[in-house]
Amino acid sequence: MNIRDSEFVMGLLIDNGFTRAESAEKADIILFNSCSVREHAEDRLISNIADLKLEKKKRPRLVIGLIGCTAQNHKSKMLERLPVLDIVCGPGNESDLPRMIKDVLKDRCSMVAVDKVDDKRPELFPSYRENKFKAFVSIGEGCDNYCSYCIVPYVRGRERSRDIEDIVREVNDLAGRGYKEVTLLGQNVNSYKGSRVQGPGSRKNIKTGFAELLQKINGIKGIERIRFMTSHPKDAHVELFKAMRDLDKICEHLHLPIQSGSDRILKLMNRNYARAKYLKLVEEYKKFVPGGSITTDIIAGFPSESDRDFNDTVDLMKEVGFDGAFTFKYSSRPPARSAELIDDVSEALKQERLEMLMVLQREISRKRNEETCGKIVQVLVDGPSERQPSLLSGRTRTNKNTIFQGPKKLTGKLVEVKIESVKPHTLIGRMT
Ligand code: 5AD
Ligand code: SF4
Repeated sequence: MNIRDSEFVMGLLIDNGFTRAESAEKADIILFNSCSVREHAEDRLISNIADLKLEKKKRPRLVIGLIGCTAQNHKSKMLERLPVLDIVCGPGNESDLPRMIKDVLKDRCSMVAVDKVDDKRPELFPSYRENKFKAFVSIGEGCDNYCSYCIVPYVRGRERSRDIEDIVREVNDLAGRGYKEVTLLGQNVNSYKGSRVQGPGSRKNIKTGFAELLQKINGIKGIERIRFMTSHPKDAHVELFKAMRDLDKICEHLHLPIQSGSDRILKLMNRNYARAKYLKLVEEYKKFVPGGSITTDIIAGFPSESDRDFNDTVDLMKEVGFDGAFTFKYSSRPPARSAELIDDVSEALKQERLEMLMVLQREISRKRNEETCGKIVQVLVDGPSERQPSLLSGRTRTNKNTIFQGPKKLTGKLVEVKIESVKPHTLIGRMT
């Protein structure tokens, strides 16, 4: 989501006459797009911005801005904390950035814009994108779920869905420019409710759900793969799995964050589902999308998490057999509600639990990957592998990173690869 937001802002600035600098050293304007989901990211951001003090002394005309969730979270307090900043702009106000930057350049004043947290973003489609064949497409903003640990509803505002026609127009445009893969983004895609005109000649708007959106996008010529994230287990439904089965372009990968395997902790987290419901969903997913992959997010060390709660998470991980898991140490994020609970799991125990989860997941991922050995998989080639530039890398439909030998000119193409060996995070194969 942050990558997409950065592209949006970059595109908007380019459309307004700015150009992209080769490096931060050569830039006249530096914007930091921030994430405030975990404390660690915020701390790093603050020290990175503070590091620009010398640079600003050398080049007093340099404009430095903070955009994204941390800007929304701390508002004008960020100007006091980081005097090098000229601009603090929340996610809802990012469409105002070209004007704000011009004002700062003209008047050398500092500006704060954080008032549009609940607004629908104007339907602007700056064409700038980092990648030439894979695109992120936002289908909505905000979140109404108020998971107790999570800051997102406070900094991204109420859930609002983009109109279905606008999304379809954007994807059509991408297809026309040669894009092959789109990833639909929302905090909870399963609660998507876009409006569309009821039918030809009608002016009445009706609300449509995620399944209809998927169907519409599946019909767009040129797009070969559709991904989506994130699904919330309380709203994910067998209809989604049927759509994954029936619509040929939807990739067989589901990201379904569990957060904890303990019912007691899930309740404290305000997740609105129990472990049994999650397991049932996974069972249905596996039935409708055989061979599909499943990944998750897990938080270790939520307030009051006991050994027993933690073991419930470990057991659930083994039972589901996730293809991958993003694991995080809990951090208190006021004004999120859990900040009122005592953060009583020690840092050392959080770290220990996190490491246990990571070791376990590596083992499970390797086993899951072994199941692909000997199989032929479709890969969309990303280009030379970062770690081994003599090889190509790309993703399978199940979102597994795959490396193999081949010419660079295959970048952006779909190829077939026979898997010969695996690592926990990589498949290794040969083009057929
Ligand atoms: N502490 C640790 N992890 C968190 N996440 C969200 N809020 C917190 C927090 N306060 C994790 C969740 C979420 C992912 C994006 O970040 O697992 O799914
Ligand atoms: Fe945060 Fe929960 Fe919303 Fe995800 S669903 S963004 S974890 S409040």
